[in-house]
Amino acid sequence: MTATTVAPESLDTIDLADPKLHAEHDLSEIWRHLRATRPVYWQPLRGTQPGFWAITRYADALSVYRDSDRFTTERGNALGTILHGGDSAAGVMLAVTDGTRHHEIRAILQRAFSARALAAIGESLRRTVDRLLTEAIDKGECDFARDVAGNVPLGAICDLLDVPQDDRRYLLSLTAHAWSSDHADAPPIDSWSARNEILLYFADLSKVRQRSSRTDVVSLLTNATIGGDNLRDAELVANCYGLMIGGDETGRHAISGGLQALLDHPDEWRRLKDGEAGLASGAEEVLRWTTPSIHSGRAATVDVTVGGEQIHAGDAVSVWISSANRDETVFPDPDRFDLNRDPNKHLTFALGSHFCLGHLLGRMEVEAVLEGLRRRVRSVRQTGPAQRIYSSVLSGLSSLPVVLEPEPARS
Ligand code: HEM
Repeated sequence: MTATTVAPESLDTIDLADPKLHAEHDLSEIWRHLRATRPVYWQPLRGTQPGFWAITRYADALSVYRDSDRFTTERGNALGTILHGGDSAAGVMLAVTDGTRHHEIRAILQRAFSARALAAIGESLRRTVDRLLTEAIDKGECDFARDVAGNVPLGAICDLLDVPQDDRRYLLSLTAHAWSSDHADAPPIDSWSARNEILLYFADLSKVRQRSSRTDVVSLLTNATIGGDNLRDAELVANCYGLMIGGDETGRHAISGGLQALLDHPDEWRRLKDGEAGLASGAEEVLRWTTPSIHSGRAATVDVTVGGEQIHAGDAVSVWISSANRDETVFPDPDRFDLNRDPNKHLTFALGSHFCLGHLLGRMEVEAVLEGLRRRVRSVRQTGPAQRIYSSVLSGLSSLPVVLEPEPARS
């Protein structure tokens, strides 16, 4: 599917919260126009959907992210939930909890996501990428989004949670539909029931891990105490779910979007292959370019001014990372895909108190795939149209058919 460009003149009729708009259109002109002329933009009521603010400049995004007192996630951290009655996990799941409780739960999880703790999974990540690339090469034609990208983050997060191997495919089928759909007209009940099944799965697994001496994250959460008390059941289950969702779909879209970017920019592919492009800087640029999480949602707790606009207490606010990551005042030549871009302070993992807990793991995954492609794959040929997912929270591909030509085996 080729994305059609939306002209700024359409601003009064489009709905920035509509998954179809993001799946089927290229919004770069809209974002450029908003950054230049109405950086803090009020999208009014559309049908029965309430209005909301859209923040599009990098500097304004920073001021919202850094002020969790005045911009809360407790009504949800995506427009879909904030505009339609709030998030049922508010006050229990990290991403939609603020204040002391957020700090306490985050401190428990932080240990599992430090550079030291993650060093242990670096080698297994490399092995997983190698295996997936070998299988994809052997297949002849493969769907890179499903066969490779779809399995890298899930493998890593399942390793951290120590999810039994036999359950992993089942979980992938659920996480793939919890926050997005492969179709324009998927009924909301599909994603609702996928989310519930994941919660039930972790309720069962945490029972098995009670009092266990294992070091996986489910055992860590099950047996952790705050002020002498264990986490409440709802907190335990919601946070396992949060890690699956936070860690799976985002990484998948960075990886398949990264390959798409390399296909679209053959000079950058060559620089990757020749070793002229750094793997770490390459991963950062893939993360900026793909921006898998396209917006963060907040609600204003008091009247507050951002970018000269008066936001009222209770207003819904959306920070568009997809726009901030192309802000020309921060990124020179922002529409150029440059694997050696430096500095590259993108907002792909947001910032402030809700800064992505798994950012190091996300970075490791993208870098591992770039390294695998450099070492194992001589060339890539796209064999059919890519398919985009339907979501206003996430951006990425549900399908990317390609042939991976292997490097000749070394003796
Ligand atoms: C938060 C993006 C990988 C777990 C976030 C946020 C973003 C993000 C933008 C902030 C949301 C907000 O402001 O409301 C990404 C991207 C990833 C990625 C693009 C991969 C390329 C991961 C991984 C994990 C993870 C691998 C864990 C396994 C979380 C959690 C939060 C979070 C738990 C909530 C943190 C908090 O509220 O304190 N992520 N993420 N993410 N992410 Fe990630």
